[in-house]
Amino acid sequence: MTFLAYVLLSWSMVATISLSATLKTPQELITDANKAAQALPLPIPPSLDPWYRAPIGVDWQDTDPGQLLKIRLAPRLNLTVGNAMTAYQILYRTTDSQYNPSWAVTTLFIPWWQYRCSSSTPHLCAHALLSYQIPYDTCNVDASPSFGLHVGEPYGEISDALGLGWFVSVPDYEGPLASYAAGLQAGHATLDGVRAVMQVAGVFGLRMDIAKTALWGYSGGALASEWAAELSGQYAPKLKIAGVALGGLTPNVTSVTDFINERECAGLIPAGLLGIATQHEAAYQWIVSRLKPATAQVFLSVKSLTAAQSITLFRRQNIYDYFVGGYGDLHTRVMRMMYNVDGYMGYHGVPRMPLFVYKAVYDELSKVADTDALVNRFCGVGANILYHRNLAGGHNEELVNGRQRAFAWLSSVLDGSYDQVYSTMGCTILNVTYNLAPYVPWYKI
Ligand SMILES: *[C@@H]1O[C@H](CO)[C@@H](O)[C@H](O)[C@H]1NC(C)=O
Ligand SMILES: *[C@@H]1O[C@H](CO)[C@@H](O)[C@H](O)[C@H]1NC(C)=O
Ligand SMILES: *[C@@H]1O[C@H](CO)[C@@H](O)[C@H](O)[C@H]1NC(C)=O
Repeated sequence: MTFLAYVLLSWSMVATISLSATLKTPQELITDANKAAQALPLPIPPSLDPWYRAPIGVDWQDTDPGQLLKIRLAPRLNLTVGNAMTAYQILYRTTDSQYNPSWAVTTLFIPWWQYRCSSSTPHLCAHALLSYQIPYDTCNVDASPSFGLHVGEPYGEISDALGLGWFVSVPDYEGPLASYAAGLQAGHATLDGVRAVMQVAGVFGLRMDIAKTALWGYSGGALASEWAAELSGQYAPKLKIAGVALGGLTPNVTSVTDFINERECAGLIPAGLLGIATQHEAAYQWIVSRLKPATAQVFLSVKSLTAAQSITLFRRQNIYDYFVGGYGDLHTRVMRMMYNVDGYMGYHGVPRMPLFVYKAVYDELSKVADTDALVNRFCGVGANILYHRNLAGGHNEELVNGRQRAFAWLSSVLDGSYDQVYSTMGCTILNVTYNLAPYVPWYKI
């Protein structure tokens, strides 16, 4: 075909198209593109995907925590999460709550702005990494973020962080057993996710000479982030973390359980009990053996539910009624041993990096007094904490109310202006009133 013929053919096609249809608006074109993306086959859920296994034929257990073991492109995630150029999934070695070698997966998003980065334009290359822990609050491994993000992100923080030009890593910190509420497991997997990402981030153009790292999480995501912060000194002493933002903390799992039973989010109790017990075999056996036979299946069904589904299913129920011995069954010796290992923040070290803690005084998931006590404990031994106690809103509202403050704080930590904007010594505790969010009922989550 000659060039002229090609031009004519193309032109006639264009003419035909423009005659037969009116031009679409940009919004319609975006909608079409999104539909086309949804028509692509979805990736396989982690429980069925052979990629979610430790590598075969290598002694990965003998590698250092944080060792990168596998990486793959996740080509749909830049369509479901805004401001992402590309996304990768990384499988790495970590350590479970029993200090056995284990593995976890994180999703690394490269910001859209990184297209400007080249060896001749180093000043346009990213120089910040945020490890953002999603509150996925479920003991169902198929609700892990690396899979769930394929239908979009829940709160928009990832795309906003990418819009600021940050690399964003989103770990499945509950690990391959979906060990929801297991603090050691979550802290280790969070720290090792950062170590693994740092092994490849330079290849994707992160300025390794000046890059800073921060952690951020709300609620279940703050659980992982806080445990990472207090464990980092002993577990990852060489890893530099510039700051950690913690919203809606739940420092004490048994206190949370007592507080939310028979309330809107009681469904987090079965998910939390089965999740934490995946790391404690004897406790798991005990829980299952003490379930009343008539309702055991309902209780155990949380293993295949998302957080929102379990909250809906168990809304306002008395979870202790599922047990033959009621409340007492959850406080036997085997259960207490589990909580003591994995359930209480503040006993594994003092965060060496600055913290921003924000919490609704009227939080209905975890008493503000527990967070006050944790902050005071750390402040008594030299931590550097800015603590906002918000007099407006409850647990769900504070996710939105605290977001801009968290972004401002994280930005200063990541761009190196922290010491000019915030106090670098001791603790600053403030009662504040930020009332931006509408009331969000639990069943809407
Ligand atoms: C998404 O990532 C894929 C794989 O890297 C790439 O081919 C594609 O161009 C990206 N899409 C957008 C919208 O950036
Ligand atoms: C956790 O909370 C429970 C119930 O409020 C309390 O009895 C216990 O002392 C707390 N544990 C720790 C370690 O703070
Ligand atoms: C904040 O309010 C509490 C009451 O909720 C009060 O006890 C405390 O002294 C106040 N703290 C500051 C720093 O003003």
